[in-house]
Amino acid sequence: MAPRQKVEKRMDAEGVKYTEAEFLDYYGKKKGAKLWDAAGEKAEAPKAKAKAKVKAKAKPKAKESKPRKELKVCVCGGAGGIGQPLSLLMAMDSNVSELSVFDLNIAMVPPEGVAADLSHIETKCKVKGYVMEVGKNPIDYTEECLKGCNLVLVPAGLPRKPGQSRDDLFKANAGIAKGIVEACAKHCPDAILALIVNPVNSIVPAMAELYAKKGLNPLNIVGVTTLDCVRANKFVGEITGKNAKFINVPVIGGHAGATILPLFSQDKTAASIDKEKIPDLDKSVQDAGTVVVTAKNGKGSATLSMAYAGARLGSSILAGLQGRRRVECAYVKSDITDLPYFTSKVAFGEKGVAKVLPLGDLSDYEKTRLEEASTALKAEIETGLAYAKENDLA
Ligand code: NAD
Ligand code: LMR
Repeated sequence: MAPRQKVEKRMDAEGVKYTEAEFLDYYGKKKGAKLWDAAGEKAEAPKAKAKAKVKAKAKPKAKESKPRKELKVCVCGGAGGIGQPLSLLMAMDSNVSELSVFDLNIAMVPPEGVAADLSHIETKCKVKGYVMEVGKNPIDYTEECLKGCNLVLVPAGLPRKPGQSRDDLFKANAGIAKGIVEACAKHCPDAILALIVNPVNSIVPAMAELYAKKGLNPLNIVGVTTLDCVRANKFVGEITGKNAKFINVPVIGGHAGATILPLFSQDKTAASIDKEKIPDLDKSVQDAGTVVVTAKNGKGSATLSMAYAGARLGSSILAGLQGRRRVECAYVKSDITDLPYFTSKVAFGEKGVAKVLPLGDLSDYEKTRLEEASTALKAEIETGLAYAKENDLA
């Protein structure tokens, strides 16, 4: 195994440690650099060797920590292809005290069975399964399941078959998402809803606008696009021979075809790749979902890598809720471009989305691609906005 590279972290005003990139992301380039330097001055006095001393010195500030919150998570569609491994990973997250696994009576495994299975793993998390008869309305069957939830992960919905686009799933999946979102609006209106269900590009605007119409915070609806970042990091790692764990390519725009725009220029390792290779690499990230759909040959789309990616975002959101800010790319209501919904880096804090971060510098290739991505995304957002106009949450 390659030796683990240490990334330097410095303490911010709240006594929490962040990397330089996180300082720059959260505060912006100028202010972030200043605060990073200032944090360094404080930490510099007792140099590297005197580790014990550094710890002793830092203690009074770090000890101001607040008590850890007991957090509850629900996975809707928790007995499905993504739902099962995602439930496992969430039950392993030390921030999760309670986990609800919700699914239909036609799921491949009863959700109570998934919960019974997960309840034997050696974590403090209490897991409970909830089943609903197909065709019923979630709002009437999810009170106990959703009450008190801080985070609801939603992989409930149909996956693609070969030859289908994500867009083809809108009709079926928008109805499924609406039922679940409606139930959350009633039973856990302050929870963060992380929507995995496709087509993310249209479902998220639809559900966020329905939330706003109901007087709830549209920024509580978060589109999960983390898998695009995971793929971009992995592919860059393969080309460069570097460990993907230390590669962090932001992927902006949306989550389908040309709307997926990896910003290779913004990661040090990715930026070292020959410019001529970038268009193919870009295309391989755009097409990665379809490659899995084709390889699964009619039996579904990405489930395991999606669970890994969904758990990464879920854990970051929970860390944010605990007061430890995290930055992840996500598709949310946004005013950083001309489009009302857009994937960019987002800082997650104690109330969920704390700040939608700007795009940063783009290469000439990325600028051209941004135009292409925005044109395609605009049409898919409109589908979602039209749905929200025609519908209401109960
Ligand atoms: P799956 O069919 O294996 O599982 C879906 C589960 O949802 C099933 O168990 C089903 O019973 C359940 N379900 C359906 N309606 C429900 C409802 N009203 N309430 C509760 N549960 C309900 O599918 P999957 O492979 O897990 O994929 C799920 C969704 O995630 C698909 O729409 C897929 O396109 C999407 N997806 C998104 C990404 C992404 O990056 N955002 C990646 C992969 C898959
Ligand atoms: C993915 O990117 O893997 C998902 O959106 C599933 C799909 O349909 O490709």
